[in-house]
Amino acid sequence: MVAILSPNEALTHTPVLVEEAVTYLAVQPGGRYIDCTVGAGGHAAAVLEAASPGGVLLGLDADPAALEAAARRLAPFHNYMRLVEANFRELAEVCRRHNFVPVHGVLFDLGLSSMQLADAGRGFSFQVEAPLDMRFAPGQGLSAADIVNSYSERDLADLIWRYGGEPASRRIARAIVRARPLATTTELARVVARAVGGPHRRTHPATRTFQALRIAVNDELGALEAGLEQARDVLGLGGRLVVISFHSLEDRIVKQYLQRESRDCICPPEQLGCTCGHKATLRILTRRAVRPAAEEVADNPRARSAKLRAAEKIASEYQHEGG
Ligand SMILES: C[S@@+](CC[C@H](N)C(=O)[O-])C[C@H]1O[C@@H](n2cnc3c(N)ncnc32)[C@H](O)[C@@H]1O
Repeated sequence: MVAILSPNEALTHTPVLVEEAVTYLAVQPGGRYIDCTVGAGGHAAAVLEAASPGGVLLGLDADPAALEAAARRLAPFHNYMRLVEANFRELAEVCRRHNFVPVHGVLFDLGLSSMQLADAGRGFSFQVEAPLDMRFAPGQGLSAADIVNSYSERDLADLIWRYGGEPASRRIARAIVRARPLATTTELARVVARAVGGPHRRTHPATRTFQALRIAVNDELGALEAGLEQARDVLGLGGRLVVISFHSLEDRIVKQYLQRESRDCICPPEQLGCTCGHKATLRILTRRAVRPAAEEVADNPRARSAKLRAAEKIASEYQHEGG
């Protein structure tokens, strides 16, 4: 099996919407920032540069290999940052442990990095022969193999439909159940391709199934909901929340969260009079999602599906010193 990623792509990760992220974070010298998905440290380096002199950054990643790459990339800033192996669904606890509240900005750059996609040991890509794993945090929770080999046909079909939007989910689930046990990425990709059959689509027939499994393995949507809430909570007044997402399921969660938290009342629209007592804590800064310019997409095809949304904290129990 030939990997389509070049060796360079395997070693690095080109961050998307970097300037836009720094702008919407309103990075200022001496500020305190959190990168919830530090990856190879591309965004974090840009934030630390803009925050110097004196700015500091707490970088989280669930993947220890990503943290090693980030540590190398961010070595020039080592006095101004701390890297923590953690899932961002534990953001509040990590901030408390590191006495890192309140902050001026929190960034999420969701999904997986090119390094993870290309790493033959991780099982994220159907183009690289590997054990079916797909866990951001190696060894924690169910692997993709555990799921494909143990879920019922119906649960597999639901998962592939819900997280992959795959119209052939039932046919694929049936083929998986017949072919199992499945051990590797390429075995699964072949089973899916055979099940889908028909004329070739624009993308590989296994794309949606692999996306669905990755989302399920890492409970990506649950982690995002928990992470957004905690990010909002650790922001000081005027602090900025910036989220870059790569597919519609993530973007919908971000959009709806920002809409809800920017409203003073979240009672059902048909209800007369407010009983919820909800107060807005955020002001949306991006009426529409910000998309990468055509030049960025031409240079980095991964940017194609990126969407950035941002908001400002307008009510906080925390005041920044002097503000
Ligand atoms: C797109 S990459 C980030 C790249 C990074 N912004 C850069 O410039 O190099 C996403 C990273 O988020 C991590 N990640 C995904 N979900 C996570 C979660 N719930 N908690 C912590 N890290 C997560 C992945 O392991 C991956 O390294």
